[in-house]
Amino acid sequence: MYNMPEFNLINKEDAMSQGSKGSTKLMIAIWAIIMLFIGFKAYNTSSHDPANENTQVDSATLERIKPIGEVSIDSSSAVASTGTSNQTERSGEQVYSKCQSCHDSGIMEAPKFGSLEDWAPRIERGIDDLLMVAIAGKGGMPPKGACMDCSDNELRSAIQYMIDSTK
Ligand code: HEC
Repeated sequence: MYNMPEFNLINKEDAMSQGSKGSTKLMIAIWAIIMLFIGFKAYNTSSHDPANENTQVDSATLERIKPIGEVSIDSSSAVASTGTSNQTERSGEQVYSKCQSCHDSGIMEAPKFGSLEDWAPRIERGIDDLLMVAIAGKGGMPPKGACMDCSDNELRSAIQYMIDSTK
């Protein structure tokens, strides 16, 4: 009776070492999923800790996106837009090529090009409100959609182009 728990333990260990290759793979898969989750959470709350080596794989990806959102050089972007204000205005379609990388795929919950579902609640808010948010940035959306030389009017055209894509 007293030997029973020990006997069971040994048996379990045997079983584990037999299937150890499979379970190692499973552990790696689970680890990767957890790390991905932590990475995204860290990004969303933007409290991601670069010192944490465990999230390095994901931070590498996130880092590529993040700096765009952080470069909110307000003063120099004002200079940039006044500097280019004399240029001929680009069409919504042309400006959209700068927004495409996120809005084509809908990454980080960016409202997707052509998706009425994503755009309907935003269309309701009106383009002026959307333009204000697009200029200021929000969450994964970098200020001015990272198009620092885009004028407000060009951004408006690009937003209109996305809105029209849902019709
Ligand atoms: C780096 C990725 C990225 C790029 C580039 C980008 N966007 Fe976005 N955009 C987002 C994300 C993510 C959201 C969703 C933000 C949210 O609702 O939290 C968003 C939301 C928006 C919205 C809706 C804002 C709202 O109030 O719901 C507009 C309008 C918009 N983007 C316009 C643009 C335009 C115009 C460009 C190009 C000049 C652009 N975006 C480029 C990621 C991006």
